[in-house]
Amino acid sequence: MANDYHEPAQEMSEKARDIIRMMNSFKEEIEAVDWYHQRCELTSDPEAKEIMWHNAVEEMEHAMMCLEWLRRNQDGWDGQMRKYLFTSKPIMELEEGEEDQEAEDPKDGLGIGQL
Ligand SMILES: [Fe+2]
Ligand SMILES: [Fe+2]
Repeated sequence: MANDYHEPAQEMSEKARDIIRMMNSFKEEIEAVDWYHQRCELTSDPEAKEIMWHNAVEEMEHAMMCLEWLRRNQDGWDGQMRKYLFTSKPIMELEEGEEDQEAEDPKDGLGIGQL
């Protein structure tokens, strides 16, 4: 849909448009998790809560399918996931570790290597 774009869609590659489709799908799945989560928080009916939590977890499944597709198809995701996911270290220390490495690089202060 036209409102998915912030730049002229006709100038984008089919691959770029597929990435935009998947990012929008990912946002929609996250939004669905949010809606179910909020309803689960407030319902007084235990069976309704159980059904809606079941549905919330299925939306998480859908969201992760989108994210995995993005990891495989758009540069950047894989490295960030490898850095931040499935570790028990404090999250902010993971980025600090990277900055320490950059600061130790004698070639340049920005840590971008020699261009
Ligand atoms: Fe289900
Ligand atoms: Fe879904």
